[in-house]
Amino acid sequence: MIRQPEGVRGATIIGTGMYVPERVLDNAELERMVDTSDEWIRERTGIIERRIGAPDQASSDLSLIAAQRALEMAGVTADEVDQILVATTTPDRYLPSCGCTLQAKLGAKNAAAYDIFAACTGFIYGMGVARGLIGTGIADTVLLVGVEMLSRIVDYTDRNTCVLFGDGAGAAVLRPCKPGDGILAVSMHSDGVLGDLLEIPAGGSRRPASIETVQAKDHVIKMRGRELFRVAVRGMEDSIRRVLEQAELTPDDLDLVIPHQANQRIIDATRERLGVPAEKVVLNIERYGNTSSASIPISLDEVVRAGRLKPGDHVGLVAFGGGATWGATLARWTLPVYPGAGKAAAAGAGQAIAPAAAARASSRGAA
Ligand code: ACO
Repeated sequence: MIRQPEGVRGATIIGTGMYVPERVLDNAELERMVDTSDEWIRERTGIIERRIGAPDQASSDLSLIAAQRALEMAGVTADEVDQILVATTTPDRYLPSCGCTLQAKLGAKNAAAYDIFAACTGFIYGMGVARGLIGTGIADTVLLVGVEMLSRIVDYTDRNTCVLFGDGAGAAVLRPCKPGDGILAVSMHSDGVLGDLLEIPAGGSRRPASIETVQAKDHVIKMRGRELFRVAVRGMEDSIRRVLEQAELTPDDLDLVIPHQANQRIIDATRERLGVPAEKVVLNIERYGNTSSASIPISLDEVVRAGRLKPGDHVGLVAFGGGATWGATLARWTLPVYPGAGKAAAAGAGQAIAPAAAARASSRGAA
């Protein structure tokens, strides 16, 4: 068990933001691309549509908008940010980091910047790192982003994967708080033996890009979905139980759970094992699909702007992903109910869930 050492500062979220691209790729369009059906996708995953970045967008562009929104909510300027952590599997380039690209775009000239590479668990790992940085006084203001453009690493002829993934970004700004508030507990785990359940076989130092790797389609996601499913449910349940234990709380004490949106059946199975009622578990997979490290901060921003969190609420964030990695955080929420909550909820939490019909009308070509 890991406990917060005496004398360490607390760390809490003081602002959130998100951005998803305009372009909607729905199940009907996928039916025309691969041998699948709207019925199969809905029943097996819960997904109805996902967002796809425009040709001229890269992960840092999505991150920039989410980060600006989070900084605005926090009332923090880019100059005040000490560290930028970007959780992503799809940086603009492998060198420099997406964190540094974002730092330049934000003009955050006082910030160190780097990436966290933990697939769908990236945002949870990032919260663990941010809590450590703030707790030990290395940083006062951390900007944590989860961003993915999975459409760039998906094979749109492979029905096993292309129906699942989407693009998007979410961000949070963290600052110190009194011990006992904010992030109460973190659990972070990995099992590299399971690495090939979800992989991009080529493009790294083992098999650099070559004509052969491109021809073999080895630069896209390969997944053994059924095996991952079992790891996911076990890992998510275990992680939540660990953070509850660290904080000396029980599942009944949870006011809200924000799970990584990989598959509605994984979320339902985890929820049932924990005995948490459905209304306490955030679900938006039908609109965005699996956006990997972006799914938790996107969901968090939606619930914040809809006024679903109030000071003192216990909120659990939990994820699993490639690596394999899994983990959870438990926080005692400190932000007041978002002042624009009524308006944001009525308008569908802003641009993020702008009417799909409007987005569809402006959609162009497939990913
Ligand atoms: N449309 C129609 N049929 C399909 C599709 C599709 N899109 N995809 C697979 N099938 C078929 C399979 O070929 C198989 O056919 P068969 O029985 O003739 O062989 C059948 O459907 C059942 O396949 P399963 O793999 O057993 O289907 P399952 O119910 O397990 O659902 C899924 C597959 C959705 C991938 C599920 O296993 C899952 O969600 N796993 C977790 C995956 C995941 O979350 N990955 C992301 C990890 S997070 C990260 O780090 C990015």
